[in-house]
Amino acid sequence: MAGVAHPRFGVWAVVYGSWGPFDHPDDPVDASWERNKQLILEADRLGFDSTLIAQHLVNPFGDELDQLETWTSAAALAALTERIEIIAAIKPYLVHPVVLAKQALQIEQISGGRFGLNLVNAWFKPELERAGIPFAEHDERYAYGREWITVVRGLLNGERVSFQGKYFHVEDYQLRPIDATRTRPTVYVGGESDPARALVADKADVWFINGQPRAEVERLIADVAARPREGDPVRFGLSAFVVARETDAEAEAELAALWELAEAGKARWEALVADADPKAVMFQTFAKYPHIGTNGGTAAGLVGSYDTVARRIREWADLGIETFMLQFQPFEAEMRRFAEHVVPRVRELAPNAS
Ligand SMILES: Cc1cc2nc3c(=O)[nH]c(=O)nc-3n(C[C@H](O)[C@H](O)[C@H](O)COP(=O)(O)O)c2cc1C
Repeated sequence: MAGVAHPRFGVWAVVYGSWGPFDHPDDPVDASWERNKQLILEADRLGFDSTLIAQHLVNPFGDELDQLETWTSAAALAALTERIEIIAAIKPYLVHPVVLAKQALQIEQISGGRFGLNLVNAWFKPELERAGIPFAEHDERYAYGREWITVVRGLLNGERVSFQGKYFHVEDYQLRPIDATRTRPTVYVGGESDPARALVADKADVWFINGQPRAEVERLIADVAARPREGDPVRFGLSAFVVARETDAEAEAELAALWELAEAGKARWEALVADADPKAVMFQTFAKYPHIGTNGGTAAGLVGSYDTVARRIREWADLGIETFMLQFQPFEAEMRRFAEHVVPRVRELAPNAS
């Protein structure tokens, strides 16, 4: 797998109001539009390349908690920002592919060709079941998602689509306008299981990998890279929670403080896991590598001095990671710190030529 010379940095929008422990004294839980707007506008100004707006209708940590709506927020952010890429997650069971493709093309136009969608095949059972939408078995969700993304991709490409599958019947369908500046919005996929990886090789432009030790990521990348595929090679993104300080010792002390807070609030995480599909491979990975943050968080190893974190990012990029989708806490302050101290150090490190 070829290394990446110029890694890209993204931030997770705070759709739950926090990505770390809930009771952080300097980071009150706030999932409001106003906060997310200011956060992503600042990320855009600071030079971050991308933002990911995860999708849940109901907050998985408790339905009494606020949760940002993904697609309406993506459209608004597309209009307000200048250069940052906007990625919106989508669970196929929530929206018919024709409707979703139409919305994606509109946001592509609003953003001037800066839009991406992240196909996520769902693990949070009550959100669908309580709405009366059956929560299909794990591999069937991927079969459904595969048909769904086939229709969506065709429409995003500007093709006239006729598709007869098990779940979707689309006849002679074409959507306009499409963006004049590139083929279509970027298609990301998040998911780790075997059917997820097959789907990535077949239908994704970029695969989002959960933070976990290097050997595991190396194995996952090799697996996907070896699968049959048409067109350009798949690109890779990694989710990570960053704790960066002047020295390694300071960063470790900050991580220890976050663990103390996480310990105090662990009932929330346990409630979330209880609502998850036990077949979701992602949760099996999470259990193996304790971490702060979601989607692997600190298990990606971006904890340490500014130099340590920059060096680890360089190593990940040498492995083939192009986009780093980052979480922080308190989000705004730590995001600024990362932009000021870590990004310039990464830029100074030469890629490993081997
Ligand atoms: C970077 C990333 C972002 C994700 N975002 C979401 C999300 O917004 N909503 C969601 O329900 N699942 C999300 N997921 C979870 C996956 O889509 C998938 O449901 C989960 O990995 C279980 O599938 P698996 O068994 O293939 O791992 C995300 C996964 C990754 C890696």
